[in-house]
Parts: sequence; C-alpha cells; structure tokens
Amino acid sequence: MTRNTATPTPALPEDVRAEIDALRPRYPTAEALVLPALHLAQRASGGWLPPEMIAAVAAHLDLAPAKVAAVVSFYDMFHDRPVGRHRIRLCTNLSCQLRGADELLEVLAEELGTGEGEVTPDGRCSYVQFECLGSCDTAPMMMVDDEYHENLTPDRVRQIVRGLG
Ligand code: FES
Repeated sequence: MTRNTATPTPALPEDVRAEIDALRPRYPTAEALVLPALHLAQRASGGWLPPEMIAAVAAHLDLAPAKVAAVVSFYDMFHDRPVGRHRIRLCTNLSCQLRGADELLEVLAEELGTGEGEVTPDGRCSYVQFECLGSCDTAPMMMVDDEYHENLTPDRVRQIVRGLG
C-alpha cells in the first residue's frame, strides 16, 4: 500500500482569497492577475512572501508554483525573505562606486549593525546593494523606500538612517 506523503498546499487567508477573487473580472488571465495577487498576499504576510504563501497564490490561481516563484524573484517589489519597515537600496554600480559607495556601504553596516539583506532586531530597516538606480549624475545615491537620496556623504547617510522611524 502506498501513502500520499506530499505536503498539502497551504490555503490563502480568506480575506486575501476574497480580494483576489474580486479582481478576477478585471484581468483577462490568471497570469495577468499574478502581480496584484502577490501584492495582496505580501501585504497580508508582513511585507514578504514565504514559500507557503507563494504556493498558496499559485494554487489559488491554478498556476505552476515555479511560475509564480519566478515572478517573485524577478521583481524587486516582491520579497522572498523578511525585510525591514524601511528598505534601503544603496547603488554600488560604477558611477556611485567611483564616488564612494563602498564607504557608504560600511556606514550602513555600522549604523544598522546588520549585514546586507538582514533585518535590524527592531524590524526597522534592511539594506541591499543595488545596480544603477538611474541617478548617476547625482552619485553616490541610495533609495529609502520610495525616496531618492543623492550626492550622499557618510555623514548624510548616518543622518538619514538615524531619522528613520
Ligand atoms: S551608478 Fe548609481 S545611480 Fe547609476
């Protein structure tokens, strides 16, 4: 006798299911609905998408989990690991690097006491290096949440980080 040992697919929270279903008439295909569905799921799970949540979105839309996971990994707006309330993206591409991004990266690590991609113990911040954010003429720069901070200096980075609530 064989037993089915496959892990059951987790279900989406009922309110998320309802929100996704309410959007269905506005999207021609399940693939088109993936982005808003993932936004809703991410918001419901504390700002990131654990594997069970990705699988649950895939199951609800009747899509392959790998397909939905690929969308998550492609877009910077989705997170497959916990992130801080404030997300810092420090550009370390060429223009920013030539104008001191490496030192700014050290300042971030010192100020926050965490490594890249880690969340501060109070949940306040996480930071990552980023490829060009399209503001090379004001290098070095970083993005905090949706805001650009340009022509940065180490002191200015300290000031910005200390001001994040
Ligand atoms: S290299 Fe940093 S914004 Fe372009």
